[in-house]
Amino acid sequence: MDKLALFGGTKVRSTPFTPWPQFDDRERKYVMDALESRRWGGYPFPSPRALEFGRRFAEYHGARYGIPAANGTVTLEIALRAAGIKAGDEVIVPCYTFMATASCAVHLNAVPVFTDVEARSWCMDPAGVEAAITPKTKAIIPVHLGHQMTDMDRILEIAKRHGLVVIEDCAHSHGGQWRGKGVGSMGDFGSFSFQSSKLMTSGEGGAILCNDDTYRAKVMSLVNCGRKEPGYDGFDEQLFGWNFRLSELQIAVLMGQMDRLDEVTRKRAEMLAYFRETLHANVAGLRVLDTDPRVTRQHAYQTLMRFDSAAFAGIHRDRFLQALEAEGVDLDGTFYVPLYQIPIFNARSDEWPALRERYGEGILEGGRSISCPVAEKAAYEEAVWMHYPHLSGSRADVDDIVTAIAKVQRHAAELA
Ligand SMILES: Cc1ncc(COP(=O)(O)O)c(C=O)c1O
Repeated sequence: MDKLALFGGTKVRSTPFTPWPQFDDRERKYVMDALESRRWGGYPFPSPRALEFGRRFAEYHGARYGIPAANGTVTLEIALRAAGIKAGDEVIVPCYTFMATASCAVHLNAVPVFTDVEARSWCMDPAGVEAAITPKTKAIIPVHLGHQMTDMDRILEIAKRHGLVVIEDCAHSHGGQWRGKGVGSMGDFGSFSFQSSKLMTSGEGGAILCNDDTYRAKVMSLVNCGRKEPGYDGFDEQLFGWNFRLSELQIAVLMGQMDRLDEVTRKRAEMLAYFRETLHANVAGLRVLDTDPRVTRQHAYQTLMRFDSAAFAGIHRDRFLQALEAEGVDLDGTFYVPLYQIPIFNARSDEWPALRERYGEGILEGGRSISCPVAEKAAYEEAVWMHYPHLSGSRADVDDIVTAIAKVQRHAAELA
């Protein structure tokens, strides 16, 4: 046991962690009911399960309206379009997130403006948002990243002062609450993903929360091919929509996931607290990012930790992760890199004239024209991400993870 598995020793953990996604008779029953109803699609819209699920999901997060849609990428696009974002408008996004947080703007030929994140949370830095505002700025998309939350007090205050739309990207944060308010209910829109890896999932899927009647009607119209039908025709213009309806079969799975959301949220928050306590008691130099005291209900998607190489004999984070993986514990380092460095945003400038106008012919030129030092340090040196299934099992799983980390730390000098 004492020799590192990387050098031929016995692994700390040789059994897999809890399989994901999780389901039981709840999902089985809803899916069988949907199958037998022979109503599988989402049309006519809204379908009965879409209405029921949207109502429950919104209620849990304290929003007035919830509308399911195809995935958590298009929900961002729908929100931008419902908010009236047009070609050339600027949308401020954190750079340390999944590409959809920014590509949603590009798809409308609007311009994502990348800002750095706060060192304490790796979520959008409100000071960076304020500095990035120009006369073209129309919206802000904060992301509640991993188990963390964006400082919504400051984002909402800045948005109000400058008349900007706020779309919370809650793809990681189902169930979370800030000062008693559910994620996705504080800004103008909340956007959720139910993709396979998420805290609630139907394989693929998404939902939008909002509180405003006109926004609700526009979202419904955009999800349903731009139709305006009784119940969602209370606005003047005609919108150009998509078919982004979610099928009744997917919503049936989500109904089961909704039944368990409260219990899952509580259990994961407890497991996160246990992991934090055990890790901090046994290992110096790898710390779970602190939860802001304004978080009143902790969501626990991926756990974000900060690696201090000085406490590991100066080895690089990636060397630490390599040794840890050999011990049977697969944590992640470069789960996200700053978005301005990924090739997708250098995509064809002829297709995105507003992006070219803002950033030049080479678009972002591999990110050379932008620098977000906090995000870059997180991505390449400090961040350690623990994925969702690791907190879904027992405390013994957590003990194994901490034992493996402590073992690698004891042998860090051999890894140098
Ligand atoms: C922060 C963030 N936003 C948006 C999305 C997009 O969601 P989907 O995969 O459902 O399109 C994801 C999904 O991975 C995400 O992590």
